[in-house]
Amino acid sequence: MVRSGKPSEASWTGRVPGLGTGLVSYEDSISPEFYELEREAVFKRAWLNVGRVEQLPRKGSFFTKELTVAATSVIVTRDLDGRVHAFHNVCRHRGNKLLWGETPRDETSGVCRQFMCKYHGWRYGLDGELKFVLQEEEYFDFDRSEFPLVRVHCEVWEGFIFVNLSREPSQSLPDFLGPMVRGLEGYPFHLFTERYAFKADILSNWKIFLDAFQEYYHAPILHSQQQVPALRSFDTGFKVPYFQMDGPHRLVSTGGWKGVPRHMSPPENLYPIEHQVQAGMMGPWERPDIPELDPANLPPGINPGGLDPWSISNFQIFPNFVILLYERGWYLTYQYWPTSHNTHTWEMSYWFPPSRNASERIRHEVTAVVSKEAGLQDAGTLDGTQMGLESRVIDQWPLCDQEVTVRHLHKAVGDWVQSHLRDGQPEGRRDGEAVRA
Ligand code: FES
Ligand SMILES: [Fe+2]
Repeated sequence: MVRSGKPSEASWTGRVPGLGTGLVSYEDSISPEFYELEREAVFKRAWLNVGRVEQLPRKGSFFTKELTVAATSVIVTRDLDGRVHAFHNVCRHRGNKLLWGETPRDETSGVCRQFMCKYHGWRYGLDGELKFVLQEEEYFDFDRSEFPLVRVHCEVWEGFIFVNLSREPSQSLPDFLGPMVRGLEGYPFHLFTERYAFKADILSNWKIFLDAFQEYYHAPILHSQQQVPALRSFDTGFKVPYFQMDGPHRLVSTGGWKGVPRHMSPPENLYPIEHQVQAGMMGPWERPDIPELDPANLPPGINPGGLDPWSISNFQIFPNFVILLYERGWYLTYQYWPTSHNTHTWEMSYWFPPSRNASERIRHEVTAVVSKEAGLQDAGTLDGTQMGLESRVIDQWPLCDQEVTVRHLHKAVGDWVQSHLRDGQPEGRRDGEAVRA
């Protein structure tokens, strides 16, 4: 028998308490029964990002978010005093969904003073208060103040709006996020008001797609035509220089920008339009002339490994939210919303500072399109992976040290499910789990 590989004490994996280095099962991604547990233990208990404050630009702005995984829909509002609220999207009269787009399953957004139910016309304020009941005198012992919209716990952190569907969250949002994710605090997210958003229905479990974006082991192979030569090697691969775990969250940082600038790739590695407009997968080649975006002025938590060169920090916020910050001065978010044990809806948003001229606008659009192309390459493998796992030909799989994040996510989900089964509580953060270089 030939055995090879690094000892666990010399690896990223070996530094995460309790993670182990053994084979893993993906039963958590193919089992309908596990999915039902995950809905209760994870998605009805963790803080979930549903959007950003830029989606509520004015007093009276609102949007809805379908949370199929938790069998509900929420309305997020900015009231006339500027406060942000979240409510279940359910009329208190006979249960009709209050707001929808084209059909009851479609999300919607807008600006208004009151919400009116389409069924019998009850009206609610932006703070959830029941304002009007048709023929109120026909009701019995009726007090309108007892029938507000049902409130959902909602907190805003750095402009990101999170909800928590549990009756009483076991942790505040800052405690849940923990110090590693809170290292993002102070990043000028508010400057990024130009957004390009995409959405796709994916034929895999949500974790399978998260896995595809949280390791770069696959990059030289799956994205071979988009790699600079130094990274594109079928034999030597590409290694991530920095990982960090904190509670259920993960961080992956990549370097290499200055060493191997993407725009110095030979022309065959780029689409012609990338040369034409000087923008591509890593963003516009020129960083915006905004002092807050100069890497020297960024909060240290953005690149906690102190990589130099540094190119991307990929924050994987448990359970299903990802923020990628690019050295070129823009950021990207992903959300993975389960719709069944083997399907999910994937959302991707590109965020840029507003274009000041047509060239900048074109660079943003080219970045979004070229980067989305890479995302589609990742998405293209997913139903193949799901089918392979569902065949149950194999039930134990190896993971290398560069896939430590994959191992960590499945363990974190498993821990939350176990904790829920044991005592009805979410796993939450545990002190002493931070792993640093
Ligand atoms: S169900 Fe909404 S007013 Fe009747
Ligand atoms: Fe990829």
